[in-house]
Amino acid sequence: MEKSRFVGIAILAALLCALPCSGADVHPITKRRIAGVMGPGGADWLVRPERQEEEHPDEALDALKIAKGATVADIGAGVGYFTWRLSERVGPAGVVYGEDIQQAMLDQLVRNMKARKITNVRPVLGGIDDPRLPNSSVDLILLVDVYHEFSEPVKMVDRMREALRPGGRLVLLEYRAEDPNVPIRPEHKMTLKQVRAEIEPQGLVFVESIETLPQQHIIVFRRP
Ligand SMILES: C[S@@+](CC[C@H](N)C(=O)[O-])C[C@H]1O[C@@H](n2cnc3c(N)ncnc32)[C@H](O)[C@@H]1O
Repeated sequence: MEKSRFVGIAILAALLCALPCSGADVHPITKRRIAGVMGPGGADWLVRPERQEEEHPDEALDALKIAKGATVADIGAGVGYFTWRLSERVGPAGVVYGEDIQQAMLDQLVRNMKARKITNVRPVLGGIDDPRLPNSSVDLILLVDVYHEFSEPVKMVDRMREALRPGGRLVLLEYRAEDPNVPIRPEHKMTLKQVRAEIEPQGLVFVESIETLPQQHIIVFRRP
């Protein structure tokens, strides 16, 4: 897609934040500025048709080889752009938790699942420091364009690790901050180094960074 159009969309996205996007807080380890939370005004942007071309969502999920019957969680699911794809991947014997901290996002997520006649998605209203998932119950937790918005990243990672089964995976999709040509505001992008520096001390083991998407890292960790 044309760069000028993408820049326009990125600026619009920044304007749609629910909370001030000044990034007043920083991560305690890397001192990375934490981004503001995207508000429900950003819902249309999350399902824009160009997103397919920009982010290759199905290719991202192919890379994760999700098993039928798995229990997965889409944390910061927004209106469910990845949730309905996860629902298909795990099939009727699987479960998808669609979690977000904003009820308005979850309301749209539920409407989107009903419209698709999806029955294996459980909406969860989380807290800013707790995704409220059952302990040791989830095979894969997916965070798409979300981690950099966590205002309590350390507590969130602790709770997510506890929610994973031993051997379960935590996966982050983040726009590459190493690439100056990715036209996204700095606090909405992350380097692989930053992600590893923040997540590894919290008891999760780095597995790999898959670099097949046009603009995002797919960073995989595992609970030992
Ligand atoms: C940019 S949107 C991405 C939505 C979705 N993952 C997608 O790719 O379409 C970020 C979402 O993360 C949510 N969020 C921010 N902080 C969160 C937290 N601590 N726990 C769960 N969700 C959070 C926001 O409410 C928002 O819906």
